[in-house]
Parts: sequence; structure tokens; C-alpha cells
Amino acid sequence: MSSLLEPELIEVMEKSNKDPEKLSGTLTDEEKREIDKEAAHYEGKSSVGLEALRIVQKHRGWISDSSLQAIANYLQIPAAQLEGVATYYQLIFRQPVGKEVIYLCKSSSCWIMGCDQLQKHISQRLQIEPGQTSNDGIFTLLETPCLGDCDKAPVLMLGDEMYRNLDESAIDALIDKKKQVHADKSSH
Ligand code: FES
Repeated sequence: MSSLLEPELIEVMEKSNKDPEKLSGTLTDEEKREIDKEAAHYEGKSSVGLEALRIVQKHRGWISDSSLQAIANYLQIPAAQLEGVATYYQLIFRQPVGKEVIYLCKSSSCWIMGCDQLQKHISQRLQIEPGQTSNDGIFTLLETPCLGDCDKAPVLMLGDEMYRNLDESAIDALIDKKKQVHADKSSH
């Protein structure tokens, strides 16, 4: 990594509180360590494209073009191949998202059980449409095909958790809880 940094880059780093390695499109030692650990279970590094994307996304929140290139370089695979993996898996974000990503199921069982109304309720509460992020940067709302829990529709996924048999009050409670978690974090 170069020790000569453009003033604009330093300013961005200070604002985003990210370290220079992340902004210059190389992987951090920690990210490399985690990828190597995954690769130990496979034939080689080139087999862990999805895992590597997940690891880097965990640290950076999303996968920018430079992050994708850095991963491809490290795995020694073409960036286009990795881009294909990233595009296929909707849990890999190729643009910035909020701290909490809401996946609202829009497939048939959830539709019959009123997911449209829930989407409108979420949109109204957070002032966002599907695909957008709330002004406070906390929530992104995405629509998704079946999440595999149709008998408990309507369903959404947030983080690693599934939320089932939802109604508007359950959505309100979930949003309030997450807002409180982030308010507590930012006050410390
Ligand atoms: S249709 Fe929503 S979980 Fe299957």
C-alpha cells in the first residue's frame, strides 16, 4: 500500500472511519486470514468466491467494484467470474445498504396473506420504497422470492433471523427494537 495518500482520500477515510487498505481496494490481513481459513476446507482459494464475498461484505457492509477486484486478485480468478457469483446471490450487495436489510417475501403464500399491505406499512413507517435505504441509514427494504416458510406467511428476513406470521404491529415492534439497538450503539 502506498504511503502517499491524496488529501481527498484522507478526508474520506476520516469521515468513514475506514482504514486505508479498504479504500485502496486491497484486502486487509484479517479478511485474508478469514478467506484462507475457508479455503482450507476446499481444493484451493479459487473455490471460495462466495465465501470470500460474504467475508468482505461482513467487514465493509457491501462489495464495491474495487473490493470485488481485490477479492478476485487474491483468489486469482477473473473479476467477471466473481461478478457472476455476486450477481447470482442476492445476499451479496453491490451497492451500499443500511445496517439492517429487510427482505420481505413477495411470493404467492405471502402475497395471499397480505405482504403487499405489510410492504406499504413498512414503506410508510420508514419513508422508503423497496430498494431504498432510510434517511438515518439504518434500514434497507428489499423484496425477495419465497423464503421457504410459506406455512407461516407473511414472512420477512432481517439479518440472520426469520420473522413469521407477521402483522403491522409485529413490524412496528421489530422496527422499534432495531432503532433502539442502533440508538444505544451510537450513544456509547
Ligand atoms: S411465499 Fe413467502 S415464504 Fe414462501
